[in-house]
Amino acid sequence: MARARGLFIALEGGDGTGKSGALAHLVASLGAGDALLATHEPGATPEGRLLRERLLRRDGLDWTPMAELLLIAADRAQHVARVIRPALDAGRVVITDRYVGSTLAYQGAGRGIPEADIRALHALSTGNLWPDLTVVLDAPPELALRRGLARLAAEASGEDRFEALGLDFASRVRDGFRAQAAAALTRHVVIDATAPLAEVQAAVARAVRTAIAERDG
Ligand code: TYD
Repeated sequence: MARARGLFIALEGGDGTGKSGALAHLVASLGAGDALLATHEPGATPEGRLLRERLLRRDGLDWTPMAELLLIAADRAQHVARVIRPALDAGRVVITDRYVGSTLAYQGAGRGIPEADIRALHALSTGNLWPDLTVVLDAPPELALRRGLARLAAEASGEDRFEALGLDFASRVRDGFRAQAAAALTRHVVIDATAPLAEVQAAVARAVRTAIAERDG
């Protein structure tokens, strides 16, 4: 039997939109195993974990937007080369909690780095690997920020540098994700993340199952 082609799916959204919970639900419902790999950014590799810690803590460091972008690109280069591409080459479905859509939204729309620069760096650092499908969880920043901050307080991880940027920044990030979906350069599904959690999670699972069925069909 011919080996299935790999399928690359990114789950995106602002802080507090429920991405991580949706991914956990998805993995539980699809069944983690050889066919599926759930991963995340930043920090899915040992090298990336070092970068994540530097990037997300408010530790008195003051990265310029370009330096921040380059650290994120380094994390992604490592993630793609060591984790994502090998899994896709083996025919697996790879679902990542955040990918380049987050960079276009946070470092692009949020920080003001031109989209063309982010795309050029993405081509260089990943061999221009884009998701087959991007699922965006969309919620008003007021709601998402409140939820995100509540979760961070519960976790006490101290990784709150982006949440701490406040409502204006979170609004630009949201607009950034919506603009990417509207431009439809790659396939996007936008899900209303203000709906009850079970509905949101079911909608994410439906979008992913459809993409898998299309690949296999
Ligand atoms: P993440 O671990 O997904 O946090 P959360 O679970 O709270 O969503 O991401 C951490 C932060 O990193 C998040 O605030 C967004 C930021 N980030 C960027 O700014 N650009 C990027 O390209 C990525 C991948 C993340």
